[in-house]
This record gives sequence, C-alpha cells and structure tokens, in this order.
Amino acid sequence: MSEAREQLFDEWAASYDESVDGYSGFPFEGYEQVLDLIAKRARVEAGMDVLDLGIGTGNLSGRLLKFGCAVWGLDFSLKMLAKVHRKYPQIELLKADIKGDWPIDVDRHFDRVVSAYVLHEFDLRSKIRLLQKLACDHLVEGGRMVVGDISFLTRAARDEAEKRFSGTWDEKRQTWEGSLWDEDEYYWAADETVEALAAVGLAACYGQVSFCGGVYVIERTGAESTDDGRSESTDDGRAESTNDGRSEESQ
Ligand SMILES: C[S@@+](CC[C@H](N)C(=O)[O-])C[C@H]1O[C@@H](n2cnc3c(N)ncnc32)[C@H](O)[C@@H]1O
Repeated sequence: MSEAREQLFDEWAASYDESVDGYSGFPFEGYEQVLDLIAKRARVEAGMDVLDLGIGTGNLSGRLLKFGCAVWGLDFSLKMLAKVHRKYPQIELLKADIKGDWPIDVDRHFDRVVSAYVLHEFDLRSKIRLLQKLACDHLVEGGRMVVGDISFLTRAARDEAEKRFSGTWDEKRQTWEGSLWDEDEYYWAADETVEALAAVGLAACYGQVSFCGGVYVIERTGAESTDDGRSESTDDGRAESTNDGRSEESQ
C-alpha cells in the first residue's frame, strides 16, 4: 500500500505546484490560506528547529524559512524531496515513511512540528497515535504541533460533503463515476478529533479556513497555552472548535 502511494506522489511531484496553485473546489479550496495559517499559528522564531512532515515540494517550509528557523523535511517521495532540494537547499531532507521507522537524524526534539495535507492518509486512530508519539518523543517542552489538512468542523459537515463529492454509481461499467471523494482517505472532522486528542492529554484548537480546509494547533495539556487560554480566532471570524467540546464563531 505504502509503495503504491509513494509511487503516486513520485508521479505527482513534477506537476504538484501547478495543480494546487489557485485550485478552487474540493479538496484543495483555500490551500494557500491553510498554509499561511499554519505558518502564522506555528509562531516560529529565528533559531527554532522545525519538522515538516510530508514536506512535498516545500510550500509550507518555504513560508517558515523566512522567519530564520532551521527546517527538517520528511517525506517518502524522493521526487518530492528532489523538488524541495532545488527550491530550498538549506532544508535538511529525510526520506522516510511517516508510519514506519524514522532515520536516526529525526530522533530528537523539535520546537515545532508542522504538516499540511498529509495526515488524511491515516485513519483517526493512527492520526492520534502519531500525534501522541510526536508530542512525547519529538516535541520540546512547551512546543506545539500545527497541522492543516482537508477538514470539516463536524462529522455531520463531513458526511454532507461526502454526499456532495462522491460520484454516482454507473451500473453499466460497475464503477463510481466522477467522484472527488477518495474512499481510501480519512478527512478530518474537528469535533471528533478535538475529543480524541483530549482523551490522550493533548489540547487542540481548530480553525476552519475554507469549506474543506482547516488548521489544528495541538499542545500537550498544561503546556504553554493559546492566546486566551482556550481558543485562537481566525482572522476572518470563521468557526473555531476547542477542547471543551464546543465550537464557536470567533469575534
Ligand atoms: C498532498 S502532498 C502535501 C505536500 C505539502 N505538505 C503541501 O502542503 O503542499 C502529501 C505529501 O505527503 C507525502 N506523504 C504521504 N504519505 C506519506 C507517508 N506515509 N510517509 C511520508 N510521506 C508521505 C507525499 O509524498 C507528499 O509529498
């Protein structure tokens, strides 16, 4: 399975930037804004060490380098990594499967762990396990993880989107036609994610950026808190969901 996915991303590497640039509609609507919000919420400072999981062609990391931090990029696609190297030779690149064993170079703690449009590859349980492992083994005390991806505020909103973006069954060909919804992917719902993270001692704050894209700020409970101790607002007043199980409109 992983090898097939790796090959798919290798094949996509050459055209990836053109395919996400200015994309409108499901699943990449708001791509640039999601990356901007991850960079903002990461609150990186010069000298910080940052790990970008599933770095792709480096679009998120490029935003972080501007703040003067040191970036490590992990990805299983050599072709994606080659693109990053051409754009940002200063980034330390690591070829590894997020779900597998990581190279010894990553066996350290980072000030920030960030990721964009990657973790929908994993089901909720695997996501939580991974975030727990990152928080324990790869994040400094008081550090934060900031993850942006294809995500909805609630399970109900995700179910609605599934209906809207799933194809129709073609009886003759015995296939689904015209589906944008990938049955092998696991798009996030903030209500279930925030709850599941709280259960393992991780505090999360969520901001919906576009109808299908959002950003999670995740910290260890008791670690340095967000702006008002409970939630951060999006710039434009879109809905927010926090660990207390409520979602709210900011402002
Ligand atoms: C949709 S792209 C996102 C790239 C980049 N983060 C961005 O926002 O443009 C997903 C990236 O995650 C990588 N990826 C997916 N599953 C992975 C896994 N299991 N281990 C390592 N990298 C993975 C792919 O190779 C690809 O570069």
